[in-house]
Amino acid sequence: MTLDLLLEGGRVVTCEGDTPLKGRALNVGVRDERVAYLGTSAPTARQTVDVSGLLLLPGLVDPHTHLVFAGSRAEEFARRMAGASYHEIAAAGGGIAATVRYTRETSDEELLELARRRVLALRAAGVTSIEVKSGYGLSTEHELRLLRVARRLDHEGLARIRTTFLGAHALPPEHTGDRDRYVDEVVAEQLPAVAASGLADACDVYCDEGAFTLAQARRVLEQALALGLAVRAHVGQFADLGGAELAAELGALSADHLEEVSDAGLDALAKAGTVAVLLPGAWSTLRQAAPRAERFRAAGVTVAIGTDLNPGTSPTTDLPLMAALAVRDAGLTTEEALLGITRHAARAAGLDAGTIRVGGPADIAAFTLSDARALPYALGGVRPSLVLLRGRVVVRNETPQLW
Ligand code: NIG
Ligand code: FE
Repeated sequence: MTLDLLLEGGRVVTCEGDTPLKGRALNVGVRDERVAYLGTSAPTARQTVDVSGLLLLPGLVDPHTHLVFAGSRAEEFARRMAGASYHEIAAAGGGIAATVRYTRETSDEELLELARRRVLALRAAGVTSIEVKSGYGLSTEHELRLLRVARRLDHEGLARIRTTFLGAHALPPEHTGDRDRYVDEVVAEQLPAVAASGLADACDVYCDEGAFTLAQARRVLEQALALGLAVRAHVGQFADLGGAELAAELGALSADHLEEVSDAGLDALAKAGTVAVLLPGAWSTLRQAAPRAERFRAAGVTVAIGTDLNPGTSPTTDLPLMAALAVRDAGLTTEEALLGITRHAARAAGLDAGTIRVGGPADIAAFTLSDARALPYALGGVRPSLVLLRGRVVVRNETPQLW
């Protein structure tokens, strides 16, 4: 069997089983977009790439982004840093509502171009799989537009993309004040249209103080399940409304944020196998205390880490930096952080990705790092020398070894 490609001479951290974080000296063979060989010999291949000196990790997985949006909120950021609160700004028509205005005014082509840039920036940081939410459209027409852009990114082969409908992200201007009526629209109109379009893999809801109640979140997610979508939820960013228990009860892929969550909520997540997605960009931008890793560990919850890439609370594409912050602020071990942006993130995203194994997808990020602990050790700016997506080299950089 002739391979399409052989990566020769690298050290591989498979993120499967007990991989030493220093990596093992293994050659990686690719055929038909999948890993077809992992071993110490050098089978014949149409193309060989010398990766000696490099540490090969699975292509990183970002399990939580809102990357289809227009407009900057740098001005709002400056006001917040000077003391205005996120909720005050939202109540005055800023925050998510401001991004909804900018996004609705922006053409499909421009939205696609903005989203593309963000995907390329993520990819330059080693990310090959991305969960992408809508949620800045907030009407059937505009939510579908955002999901179409997200799907297009996948079809263009820029990354593996999972799409999530987040119609229940905030109240759109035309529904001011009446959340229940808006939830009626999400359930009776938006969700059926989204499901029929085939543009979404999953449905999310923002269940929190200042957002949707537990009862409203349940209505949205139950309808999503009835329509055949997977579910996930933003819960406990500001207050614990019992969202973790709801996510667990409904078999959600993930429950995200969780700055505020009870022990019962964590137990429920562990029992259901729902992944907890931590979002360091948001807690750091909102100057909140990070959740404590010990509690998640004690409960046996699987933890992943996302960028939460969005214009309000997490303007970043640096997923390795998020892993670095999760270790420093929340107390994850370096190994937990690595799994949090690979294998566990893939589970949260509902994707076959995040490990290097024969038969698995040939998505690989190769770094000039001494060992995998150096990835969260470096405080930002870690960039791979080479990225393979579906067996094709999509990024190549001269990256001096710093860490
Ligand atoms: O994940 N929590 C809700 N949504 C985003 C923030 C969106 C925004 O401020 O635009 C988040 O933090
Ligand atoms: Fe989010």
